Amino acid sequence: MRNFVNLFTFALFLVLSNVAVSGDVGEGEKRYAVNCGNCHGPGGMGLASYPKISGKEVDYLIDRLNTYRSGKKIGPNSDLMIMMAKPLTDVEIDNLAAYLATDPAAKR
Ligand code: HEC
Repeated sequence: MRNFVNLFTFALFLVLSNVAVSGDVGEGEKRYAVNCGNCHGPGGMGLASYPKISGKEVDYLIDRLNTYRSGKKIGPNSDLMIMMAKPLTDVEIDNLAAYLATDPAAKR
């Protein structure tokens, strides 16, 4: 019986984690801190020619990151961003988008 309950809990977890389409803000913040801020500034506020990415829509951010990851250019400096997006996983992209959509730069 106990095994059955564990199995059921695990199955439920799998189902729920599939339903939860939005990323994890905390994980996104951690991933952002690894290197994104070097160019985009604290919280994605934007720095010099590096665009502001704080406070944009989740769908927009995911779309941009997927586009760069696929190697497609968007603007004149896409090469830099393609290099940064290549190693990202789907989960990391979801998390980064969730974090940036909370407009972290505005909270600084
Ligand atoms: C080496 C500097 C650099 C780093 C590091 C970097 N970016 Fe970028 N990013 C850019 C540049 C430059 C652009 C504009 C590229 C273009 O012209 O298409 C950009 C564009 C973007 C855009 C699209 C903005 C828009 O509105 O079109 C997003 C989203 C983004 N970066 C997210 C990230 C994330 C998330 C990370 C960390 C994984 C990251 N960037 C790391 C330089 C960088």
